[in-house]
Amino acid sequence: MSATAPVGAEEHRIGLTINGQPRSLLVLPWTTLLDLLREQLDLIGTKKGCDHGQCGACTVLRDGKRINACLTLAVMCEGAHLVTIEGLASGGELHPLQRAFIRHDAFQCGYCTPGQICSAVGLANEGHANTPQAIREQMSGNLCRCGAYSNIVAAVEEALPSMNDRAQATQGGTSP
Ligand code: FES
Ligand code: FES
Repeated sequence: MSATAPVGAEEHRIGLTINGQPRSLLVLPWTTLLDLLREQLDLIGTKKGCDHGQCGACTVLRDGKRINACLTLAVMCEGAHLVTIEGLASGGELHPLQRAFIRHDAFQCGYCTPGQICSAVGLANEGHANTPQAIREQMSGNLCRCGAYSNIVAAVEEALPSMNDRAQATQGGTSP
């Protein structure tokens, strides 16, 4: 049991897949998915900004759909397939959107970037954002304090066709 758990607190065992790896984990009932990822599993690519569902820095993919990890309890993730920023590259190759972010210089400090990228991959899985205006609107929950928005939109717009192909190939988008 965690050293910070009050006496009598009961941990629960959950089974889930994270970045393609099946995991069996003990979690306290109030542990958020964000804290599980960062503090228990050392997956610190997912960032904690507001911790209140306001900034999108903690966005990860659950069964292909974007969620705020700070608003999700870990115990709610039984059986889920989760993908974090660490799971997007494959076979030593960056995801097309990661490459597009680099090409378009779509970040400054980089703090919001993992959430922006996971959100845009989820957006492609949703399949209904094909104009810059729609991308802006549907990623409005992902804030960037550095104001890199126009470059972010350009990167997402460029990568959307290849992400759409991937989403269709995985039939419903349970993988990135
Ligand atoms: S840290 Fe989750 S939305 Fe801000
Ligand atoms: S790049 Fe700094 S917050 Fe977005």
